Amino acid sequence: MRVQGKSIIVTGSGGGIGEGIAKRLAQEGASVIVNDINPAAGEKVVDSIVQAGGKASFFAADVTKSADVNALVEAAVQRHGKLDVMVNNAGWTHRNRPALEVSEEEFDKCFAVNMKSIYLSTIHAVPAFRANKGGSFINIASTAGVRPRPGLAWYNGSKGAVITTSKSLAAEFGPDNIRVNCINPVFNPDTGLAAEFAGGPVDDARRAKFLATIPLGRFSTALDVGNAALYLASDEAAFISGVCIEVDGARCV
Ligand SMILES: NC(=O)c1ccc[n+]([C@@H]2O[C@H](COP(=O)([O-])OP(=O)(O)OC[C@H]3O[C@@H](n4cnc5c(N)ncnc54)[C@H](O)[C@@H]3O)[C@@H](O)[C@H]2O)c1
Repeated sequence: MRVQGKSIIVTGSGGGIGEGIAKRLAQEGASVIVNDINPAAGEKVVDSIVQAGGKASFFAADVTKSADVNALVEAAVQRHGKLDVMVNNAGWTHRNRPALEVSEEEFDKCFAVNMKSIYLSTIHAVPAFRANKGGSFINIASTAGVRPRPGLAWYNGSKGAVITTSKSLAAEFGPDNIRVNCINPVFNPDTGLAAEFAGGPVDDARRAKFLATIPLGRFSTALDVGNAALYLASDEAAFISGVCIEVDGARCV
């Protein structure tokens, strides 16, 4: 049990990659708060964790709203007596298309869900981490933040901001024993955002085009990302801060 007794929040874990992270952490002994804006999806993930013998409960919160994120952190502290790890996974993208065609509303939503959420989780979780004599943020960024391609300009920019900000926060909060790391997953066709990233349904042609750029010859899975999150959440990573773990099969272009 690699995270036995740890109190962990996973945002946006009602499906996709977040669901995989929440399940993997619960398998290894964590008490997990499954957060999402979609209660039905989140409760389903909780049921599946509990049925498998794990510890989890749901908390509805919108990661772009300060009062919601504050309540989310308070819920973890109330339910588990402390907060050890906050996984900022909730994310959103505009559909893959030319940069000039993305609306201002879509731009704002992209930066609110992907980036403002990091600001809000820092503001609200750092005091809880300080009270706990330390803690760990795991921010789900993306390969898009380091090796951007055309069509996702504003999404790519939001993930680049997550990466740079995470490194800044790692430097700033190291003296508080607070670690801040990122995970950069490559494309996962089995998630809610897949068609948005691909610019349409993930058909054979689109799959083949993506796959050709991943030397290890397959897409990432939620379990791949969950395993990386498990390492960063565990005490094995006690001296690891300010890094991005690339879970991308060596994607080169
Ligand atoms: N799928 C990929 O190919 C891929 C690749 C790299 C990075 N990522 C990143 O991984 C993360 C998870 O993405 P996914 O592909 O699993 O997406 P997804 O759409 O399958 O899951 C995202 C979850 O977040 C929830 N959510 C959305 N807005 C929210 C908000 N404001 N507050 C709380 N919850 C909210 C959704 O309801 C959903 O359950 C995102 O940060 C995404 O940018 C995904």
